[in-house]
Amino acid sequence: MTADTKTALALAGLALAFVALRSAFLEQLWGRPAALAPVPLADPAFTNTAPVRTTLADLLAKGADTSDYDCYTCHEAGKAITLRFDTNNAVILPKEHADLRIRHGRNDRNDNCYNCHDPAKLDQLLRRDGGKLKLQDSTPLCAGCHGPTYRDWEIGIHGRVSGYWDRRAGQASRLACVSCHDPHAPFFAPLKPAPGPHLLHPPLLAAGPHPAND
Ligand code: HEC
Ligand code: HEC
Ligand code: HEC
Ligand code: HEC
Repeated sequence: MTADTKTALALAGLALAFVALRSAFLEQLWGRPAALAPVPLADPAFTNTAPVRTTLADLLAKGADTSDYDCYTCHEAGKAITLRFDTNNAVILPKEHADLRIRHGRNDRNDNCYNCHDPAKLDQLLRRDGGKLKLQDSTPLCAGCHGPTYRDWEIGIHGRVSGYWDRRAGQASRLACVSCHDPHAPFFAPLKPAPGPHLLHPPLLAAGPHPAND
């Protein structure tokens, strides 16, 4: 055998070996890696920025049905209604108002309808200082009793400010108190925390939440 034939044989052998390896890899003769568990997407509720309540002002802005707020479809104009209280001093509601949950404060200290609604004109709000407000402009009403929280809200450390911080670029807007608090039961229910970020490293993922070499 000449040196040339030997070289040719060796090269052909190598080429065959590579072709064999290629088919072996293509066929995945050594098996496939175990499929990764699908990463569940976070519940869209966690990224939803809409406030928890739809207020009368929102309904008016959308031109939606506001009949719930139309007190005088049932009440007689100019006729004050006397509030009725049970033996625990809790207000007794008629079935027409059964959808209202009345619990303002943990000690029920502000459940008197006329602390907020004007007895002489039900669809109007009455501040402690005698100031009258439209039903949809309730933030100054809350301010009348919650001064410190209102001051926090005004400077942007309570509630939520959206829009532009640079006023030359555009307006900033604030959510009204009633966008987050039900005026009749204002306690803000604790929120469920969103899940933490998912581990992206596949070997760690396969090993479960606490890998042995951790
Ligand atoms: C679907 C009919 C209906 C509508 C709409 C309605 N009310 Fe009433 N409301 C009643 C009835 C019935 C009573 C109990 C009878 C009464 O005292 O006149 C009542 C009682 C009340 C009372 C007295 C609660 C108590 O202790 O008995 C207040 C305050 C009141 N309503 C405020 C309002 C205000 C404010 C609005 C509008 C934002 C309104 N209502 C809209 C039917 C209605
Ligand atoms: C007439 C005075 C008065 C007005 C008006 C008033 N509040 Fe209150 N609020 C109180 C008092 C008093 C408490 C504490 C009561 C208690 O501890 O039982 C309270 C408690 C609260 C709490 C704490 C609730 C909790 O369970 O910890 C929130 C939130 C609140 N108010 C929001 C509001 C909002 C929003 C408005 C406007 C729609 C408003 N308040 C209007 C007197 C008022
Ligand atoms: C802390 C203030 C406050 C008190 C106390 C209060 N309300 Fe209201 N109420 C409001 C405000 C503010 C609105 C308008 C909310 C909005 O913009 O969505 C309202 C809305 C309503 C509505 C319209 C429908 C609805 O579901 O909101 C009814 C009816 C009503 N109140 C009845 C009553 C009755 C009856 C009482 C007493 C048992 C009472 N309210 C006590 C502040 C108060
Ligand atoms: C963007 C939503 C949002 C807005 C707008 C908002 N609040 Fe609150 N507020 C909250 C949350 C959430 C809590 C509960 C904080 C906690 O549990 O520690 C709270 C708590 C409170 C409390 C209980 C005591 C305290 O300070 O922690 C009061 C009173 C209160 N808010 C009044 C108001 C008033 C008055 C306004 C309007 C001037 C307002 N809030 C606007 C979300 C809001």
